[in-house]
Amino acid sequence: MLADPHTACARIDLAAYAGNLTRIADHVGPEVAVMAVVKADAYGHGMIECARVARAAGIPWVGVATVAEALTLREAGDQGPLFAWLYGPDEDLSPAVATGIDLAVHRVEQLSQVAAAAAICETTAAVQLKIDTGLSRNGATGEQWPALVEAALEAVELGALEVRGIWSHFAASDEPEHPATAAQLEVFEWALGYAADAGLAVPLRHIGNSAAALRLPQARYDLVRIGIAAYGIDPADGTLAADAGVELQPVMTLRAQLINVKPVPAGAAVSYGGTWTATESTVLGLVPLGYGDGVPRGAGNRGQVLVGGRLAPIRGRICMDQFVVDLGPDARDQVGDEVVLFGAAGAPTASDWARAGDTIGYEVVTRLPLRLTRIQVEPGEESR
Ligand SMILES: Cc1ncc(COP(=O)(O)O)c(C=O)c1O
Repeated sequence: MLADPHTACARIDLAAYAGNLTRIADHVGPEVAVMAVVKADAYGHGMIECARVARAAGIPWVGVATVAEALTLREAGDQGPLFAWLYGPDEDLSPAVATGIDLAVHRVEQLSQVAAAAAICETTAAVQLKIDTGLSRNGATGEQWPALVEAALEAVELGALEVRGIWSHFAASDEPEHPATAAQLEVFEWALGYAADAGLAVPLRHIGNSAAALRLPQARYDLVRIGIAAYGIDPADGTLAADAGVELQPVMTLRAQLINVKPVPAGAAVSYGGTWTATESTVLGLVPLGYGDGVPRGAGNRGQVLVGGRLAPIRGRICMDQFVVDLGPDARDQVGDEVVLFGAAGAPTASDWARAGDTIGYEVVTRLPLRLTRIQVEPGEESR
């Protein structure tokens, strides 16, 4: 039987999160700071809890995408170094500046936006300039970089801003043979050199995410921004972390109880569209989770779950709230027995689900919706 009373839940092992961060910090060494990336509700694991645990583990920086996320952390009591890299042209940045949040600056106009907030707060705002090294998402292009550096220097001169960092983001650091990585590092070096020659000295230079931190020492600079690996999911959907000698423990376990178990005869068609038909009599189990709970619909007829110590295949399409597994003709499983989708020893991993559902491990954990019960297990609490 299930060890807790929830019909279905995502269990978050915060000690595993802290452990993964600590092992990654050890791997990159004491010269490189770690930023725990907790955007998108910590990839579905709980932003406030993960940030708190990261701080307690001695991780110096926390990073989020939006200013709203950063302010939520401040409201929850977080007071440490915090970096946010996404905001719109009409956002009032004064609450962020007033609470000491470092803001990314990608365009000259954003320097004015942050400086205006600094003026309202009668303080100096900390910014980190982004160079677009090849992802073509945010950040100044090489052509725009000189103007951004010059404008930043002027704002520094006026006392409005402090430039704490220069940073960028990789397009394909998880693909060892991808030529973009070396090209991006070259552009990053050029941008750093340009800024230094112009008289802009910055304490923080960073470009590396999980994959880069794990396998590219030359891309670590002063800080690495760690998201997916800290949640125990391999950045390359394989053995990148293991190859780097870093053990990652899954943080999230997604599990449920079987809510129906029944024998069906050969010829029984399963789930919408009858895309799977039993070739012999078997026993089917019903799992009360579906794509409305974030389970990848594409994993119908492809994914597996752990039940009774063995892997059981999913049969038919995954519905909004439930899916069916094949327990086999001799099954002795009962209603109420535990089914693990991912996260426990012997179960498929989030990456396995990603493969089965034609997506990535990042999406599998990040898209779990509000209706799914989430249980946070604090470090030191008994792990069930
Ligand atoms: C700007 C930025 N930095 C760092 C990260 C963390 O990346 P990862 O989860 O691959 O470690 C992300 C995630 O998408 C990001 O957008």
